[in-house]
Amino acid sequence: VTDAPPVSLTTEPPARADVPYYRPSGTEVELCRAALECGRPVMLVGPTGCGKTRFVEHITATLGRPLRTIVGNDDTTTADLLGRFLVTGGDVRWVDGPLTLAARRGEICYIDEVVEVRREALAALYPLADDRRCVFLDRVAEVVAAAPGFGLMCSYNPGRSLGFKDLRSAFRQRFVTIALDYLDEVGELEVLRRESGVDQDVARRLVAVATALRQGLSAEGPEAPSTRSLVVAAELVSRGIAEDVAVQHCVVAPLVHGSDVPPAAVTEIVSSLY
Ligand SMILES: Nc1ncnc2c1ncn2[C@@H]1O[C@H](COP(=O)(O)OP(=O)(O)OP(=O)(O)O)[C@@H](O)[C@H]1O
Ligand SMILES: [Mg+2]
Repeated sequence: VTDAPPVSLTTEPPARADVPYYRPSGTEVELCRAALECGRPVMLVGPTGCGKTRFVEHITATLGRPLRTIVGNDDTTTADLLGRFLVTGGDVRWVDGPLTLAARRGEICYIDEVVEVRREALAALYPLADDRRCVFLDRVAEVVAAAPGFGLMCSYNPGRSLGFKDLRSAFRQRFVTIALDYLDEVGELEVLRRESGVDQDVARRLVAVATALRQGLSAEGPEAPSTRSLVVAAELVSRGIAEDVAVQHCVVAPLVHGSDVPPAAVTEIVSSLY
C-alpha cells in the first residue's frame, strides 16, 4: 500500500479569549460538557448551518482540548479511521489513523456527517463509545486505551437522504444525543450582528426573511434558509452589497436551485418583505 495516510485536521486549543463564539439555544453546552466529562460520546443532530460545527469548536476550546476532525463519506473505511500499514523507503510500518491518534493523545475527535460512513467502518467506534473506551487495532494486535481527555463527538444533518434511523440501535444508544435547530429571532439576530458586524436594522430584516421562509416553506419539505446563509448575506451587506441583492444570492438562489422548492413560493415571500 502506498497511498497517503488518512487526512485529518488538528487544531491546537486556542487561548480562552479565542473561544469561538457560540450562542446556545438551551442547555446544550452544560449537557455536552457533562457527557464528555463522564467519558460519554455526543451526537449532534440538526439542519445545515444551525451551528453544529461551531458548537464543537466552542466546546473543545472551553475544555482546552485539541480538536481532530474527520469528515465522513461513503468511502470512509475502517483503515481511514484506525490506521494502516504504509510502505515508506522499503519499510512497512503502521501509521495510526485519526481516530487512533485522537484516542492516544486524549483529543476531541469530531466525526462530521457520521451517517455517511459505512457500517463496517462505524463498528470501529463501538468500543470507544462505551465503557471500554478503547480502540482495537486487530492488524497490529494492540488495544489502545483512550487517554484522559479523549472525547468523541459526531454530527449529521437529518434532512439528508440518510438519517439516524439508518444507524443501528446499538450505535445510536451509545451516544448522548443533542438536537440543535435554528435559533429563535433574538438569538439569530445576535449571531448575525456578532458574526458580520451589520447594524440592528439589517440583521432584523434578514432574520425576518428567514423566519418568513421557514414558516412559509415548511409544507414544501425540509429545505429552509440556514443561519449560515444569513451570516454570509450579512457579510456581503457589510461590504456594500445591496441587501436585496445579498438576500437573492445568499438565501434565495441556494434554496431554489437544485432543490424541489418552488421558486415562485420563495419569490412571493421575499418580495413581500423587500
Ligand atoms: N448558535 C450559534 N452561535 C454562533 N454562531 C452560529 C450559531 N448557529 C449558526 N452560527 C453561524 O452559522 C455558521 C454556520 O454554522 P455551522 O458551520 O456550525 O453549521 P453546521 O450545523 O455545522 O452546518 P452543516 O451541517 O452544514 O455542517 C457559523 O459559522 C456561525 O457563523
Ligand atoms: Mg458542520
